[in-house]
Amino acid sequence: MTIGELQTILSDCGQQHVLRFYDDLSEASREKLLSQLSSVDWARLPELVEAYVKAEPRVELPASLQPAPSLPAQPENEERRELYAAAARHGRELLSQGKVAGFTVAGGQGTRLGYPGPKGTFPISPIRRKPLFQWFAESIARACEKYDSEIPWYIMTSPMNDSETREFFRKHAYFGLSEGQVFFLTQGTMPAIGLDGRLLLAAPDSLALSPDGHGGSLLAMRQSGALADMARRGIEYISYWQVDNPLVCVLDPLFLGLHSRLQAEMSCRGLVKTGPFEKLGNFCLIDDKMAIVEYSDMPEELAQATRPNGDLRFRVGSPAIHILDRPFVERLTAEGRLRLPFHRAVKKVPFVNANGDLVEPEEPNAVKLETFIFDALPLAANVLILEAARGEQFGPVKNPKGVDSVDSCRRLLVERAANWLEAAGVKVPRQADGSPDCTVELSPRTYLDPEDVRQQAAQLAPPKPGSREYYE
Ligand code: UTP
Repeated sequence: MTIGELQTILSDCGQQHVLRFYDDLSEASREKLLSQLSSVDWARLPELVEAYVKAEPRVELPASLQPAPSLPAQPENEERRELYAAAARHGRELLSQGKVAGFTVAGGQGTRLGYPGPKGTFPISPIRRKPLFQWFAESIARACEKYDSEIPWYIMTSPMNDSETREFFRKHAYFGLSEGQVFFLTQGTMPAIGLDGRLLLAAPDSLALSPDGHGGSLLAMRQSGALADMARRGIEYISYWQVDNPLVCVLDPLFLGLHSRLQAEMSCRGLVKTGPFEKLGNFCLIDDKMAIVEYSDMPEELAQATRPNGDLRFRVGSPAIHILDRPFVERLTAEGRLRLPFHRAVKKVPFVNANGDLVEPEEPNAVKLETFIFDALPLAANVLILEAARGEQFGPVKNPKGVDSVDSCRRLLVERAANWLEAAGVKVPRQADGSPDCTVELSPRTYLDPEDVRQQAAQLAPPKPGSREYYE
């Protein structure tokens, strides 16, 4: 796009001010700004400003809203036991046949955690302080060994953390994976929109941009060539997880097998909520289509409604663990674009004012727009929800302290390791309240699942009360 073309477009939508400093910029800075401006969807911007900035979109929940059906974590009758056993066998075959890829969304800014650097580089494990990326890399390496297959791993970054993420992997020799096994893709960005409807500049030569949400992963898969790369490798299933959940079972044979057997296009792990207001999206049916209604959009009466047996009516929430059929993502993005609905967040966004001074606002001054992966659910022909046992699959690292924090995640990792050891017959000392009276860490490079622990149990020394034991 030439500067002349841009000027016309910008004045048509009242955004000429973004070129305010253009004449004084160096050639390189001009190029940078023009390239950013060329990637904005100007045709859609006025509509977004009207819908999300000037107005606050109201979520109208239809009368047809119903809780979505889900499969239990443990099979509860003989028929289900057979289904789950056959599905787990099938899932292992899919892994051995090289039909599954891992996919991690790691493009977020991790503002709540406040850690300087990509969240995936955060040292999470309870004893060795392995970074999140290492934790997943070792899990994948063990899966490759176990299923005798080279399983590729796709990692979505954003322009804000891409080079640091790649450098981290290079510096650590891909944590034992081969370089060709790890594919980085970068998601798109969205400009922050000031509350007056005008785009903000972060610098004279740059818009205030932020990653476009984990929903951006779908289009990023196509635009980066990741989808084509998957097709070339014979990948049919994409195992999707978030970079801040080290408890996730990265390549789960049962989940994969059920997804494939029941011919779902997109599947979700579900968690039975701890209470009506737990901050998880609610799995719902809207006109028979699967959808997630965010906890903040759920009216109180509905959130609290119960069934005759006392269970919550909307009892299952989303920990953001999915399987996507590759052909499903191909179909959604076939035209090189995908219009998922936006979710708005009003945030404090630093900006340069008309004098060129950087302003750090004290109050929220801008709307950030993101798309979410779960908005692809209504577009899937068939969706499966498989509940997961709490503590087995979910322990997100969102905050430095308190709920969903570094501490709570480490505690969950220790508790799960203790449970796996005990299930394998290794005695674990416990406190009066039942929590482990020791800190134990199982290396995911060796112990991917309870079965791995069982196989090695004879050689594992039981932890002593109050001790710290790392099982290599
Ligand atoms: P969150 O919504 O928790 O955001 O992302 P965040 O950026 O990690 O943290 P806060 O909200 O700024 O504190 C959930 C997952 O989705 C990824 C994150 O990296 C994380 O794995 N994500 C989020 C992206 O990959 N891209 C995005 O644009 C947003």
